[in-house]
Amino acid sequence: MKKIHYIFHDNDHRWAVISRDPDRPAYMIDTNECLVISGDEAILTDPGGMEIFPAVFSAISTSFNLRNIKAIFSSHQDPDIISSLTLWLEVNPELRCYISWLWSTFVPHFGGTDKTFIPIPDDGLTIKLGSIKLHCIPAHYLHSAGNFHLYDSKAKIYFSGDVGAALLDQNNSDIYVKNFDEHIKSAKKFHQRWMGSNEARLDWCERVSQLEIDMLIPQHGCIYQGKDVKRFIDWFSELKVGLFTMGETFEDEIKSEVDEPEPEISEVVTEPEIVEIPKEENNDEIAQGHSDSLNDSALKALMGQDSGTNSVKELKKDKGSNSIGKSIFSAIKNFFKN
Ligand SMILES: [Fe+2]
Ligand SMILES: [Fe+2]
Repeated sequence: MKKIHYIFHDNDHRWAVISRDPDRPAYMIDTNECLVISGDEAILTDPGGMEIFPAVFSAISTSFNLRNIKAIFSSHQDPDIISSLTLWLEVNPELRCYISWLWSTFVPHFGGTDKTFIPIPDDGLTIKLGSIKLHCIPAHYLHSAGNFHLYDSKAKIYFSGDVGAALLDQNNSDIYVKNFDEHIKSAKKFHQRWMGSNEARLDWCERVSQLEIDMLIPQHGCIYQGKDVKRFIDWFSELKVGLFTMGETFEDEIKSEVDEPEPEISEVVTEPEIVEIPKEENNDEIAQGHSDSLNDSALKALMGQDSGTNSVKELKKDKGSNSIGKSIFSAIKNFFKN
């Protein structure tokens, strides 16, 4: 299960990261969510997908009143970033969601009303939270066409969305980068494929290198801190990304083919591999098992807060409804009833 870690504290100004989930299923990418707190107000960055909502909800509820989350910052439109929006709106229907104007008519397909979204113009904007200011820094085309990061100049913390992401082993639960040279190997292919523009990359590196940053927190993988922040920016400024790198790989393959001797002409034509669709009964088993584990996660998320009440029993009864969303919606309502 995910846990909340407080990584910065200055009076009533705090940053927490809900990070690294060793229990998540291996088929799903791991994510980091950040809670920025000033006084009794908070903003949640990239709250994640519907699947991990119970884990994030549960981790935050151990030390912070969920109803005091006033806004969500969504770096871009991806499902691992913001598909849980409709569930967070159950927690606080007044919640506001800051997102690039480019996605402000697309993301409502995940939920919300015309009052929910605050479109961020291309040049960015500043969000006032309690007594602090958070700056939405443009990072367009890294990797989304409308993309922002969030910078807190007082805490010197920079939330960088998918930039800086690393695809680490399932059993790696480190919060901070321990060995930059080793760590960055897990970030290379991610950046080469998901970051589409070399112009955008260089522009971002130049602007961000002028900011004072003690911690750079990506949405996937470990946090860069201290000298590793500059190391990362320098590394990224040298890395070729996007279509260009796909071309390079392709060229390498062509070159090695040219170097090899000509194969003998054969009349046997190789058929492409045919993959059978798994039988229906297997699919049912997989779907049922998955659905059960999700319902269990939702229940567990609330067990710690709700023991001694009837709501957990009611939720267990509700499992017959076969609707994951319904169980979670009802769980949220019961959580706040008590
Ligand atoms: Fe993304
Ligand atoms: Fe992501």
